[in-house]
Amino acid sequence: MNPKGTRKAQRLTLPFQTAETTSESKATRDQDWTALVSAADNTGRERLVKSVARVRDLGEVLTPTAMVQAMLDLLPDELWQPHTSATFLEPTCGDGNFLVAILYRKLHKISSAYDAGLLPAGSTPGAVEFHAFQALASIYAVDISPENVIGGSPGHEIGARERMVMIFMAWYHEMLDVRLTAGSAVLASAEWIVNRNILVGNMLATNGDGSPSGRDALPLVEYDWDLATRSVAISRTTLGSVMAAGSTQTAGRLLLLYRPEPAYLWRGAPVELRNARVAAPPVLKTKPRNGKVMRMG
Ligand SMILES: C[S@@+](CC[C@H](N)C(=O)[O-])C[C@H]1O[C@@H](n2cnc3c(N)ncnc32)[C@H](O)[C@@H]1O
Repeated sequence: MNPKGTRKAQRLTLPFQTAETTSESKATRDQDWTALVSAADNTGRERLVKSVARVRDLGEVLTPTAMVQAMLDLLPDELWQPHTSATFLEPTCGDGNFLVAILYRKLHKISSAYDAGLLPAGSTPGAVEFHAFQALASIYAVDISPENVIGGSPGHEIGARERMVMIFMAWYHEMLDVRLTAGSAVLASAEWIVNRNILVGNMLATNGDGSPSGRDALPLVEYDWDLATRSVAISRTTLGSVMAAGSTQTAGRLLLLYRPEPAYLWRGAPVELRNARVAAPPVLKTKPRNGKVMRMG
């Protein structure tokens, strides 16, 4: 797959290259990160149905990459700009076919804005990194299946969260020539974001047995990005508030729910998000059965 607008980003050298930097061969570094956007396996086939049971119980038929790209092509080009980074909420994300394609477009736009000297936060590697975090944090999603969100089980090896982190890491490697390894602050903060933005939850208000699903109380983090200080301030909201209010965009700042003075829980450089004490929501245990989703005891 060759998503629209594929390019080789110009590599930058970070002033703080440390243990995260690798000295591996150029061939390895030149891995084509754009290929990660496709859900194809190594035979080139996309697996759009995981099992008949999942089609029956979850209505799960995943969208092919080409169709995702064709749908995203219908959106205006301004939507992919680095700042303010438009917010997306995928209500039934599966294992992330739309999410990775959206992230790809946002990261690609950061690369091309950098090359053109038009990156809003400046023309430095720090500015590139700031916008990359902003892009990652602008994408929210819910799916009822923990297998889809978290992965790590047979037949669901890589979930939506991990796919997002893989794209982020591979792009970061190509753009900044730094491989993010376990223990890296950048990687830990990227994981912090996807663990809070991509949630296991029921998008229906009630479970199959009529009990409340807890959808409206699903906690979300809002991010408020400051270009001048290259910092981010975070506050809490819920999916219910977001759905009630709709999205509101204000100059220089994008909030899911507009509040003049949000109660910020933390503020700092995005690479420090890993230290923000905002609990990740617990994984909702659900059991799909005959087209109805039941909450497990
Ligand atoms: C048709 S698939 C689409 C997945 C993804 N949006 C894509 O296009 O590849 C529908 C997805 O909705 C999820 N789902 C089904 N019922 C749900 C519910 N009540 N709340 C949240 N997700 C649900 C399933 O797990 C399934 O992955």
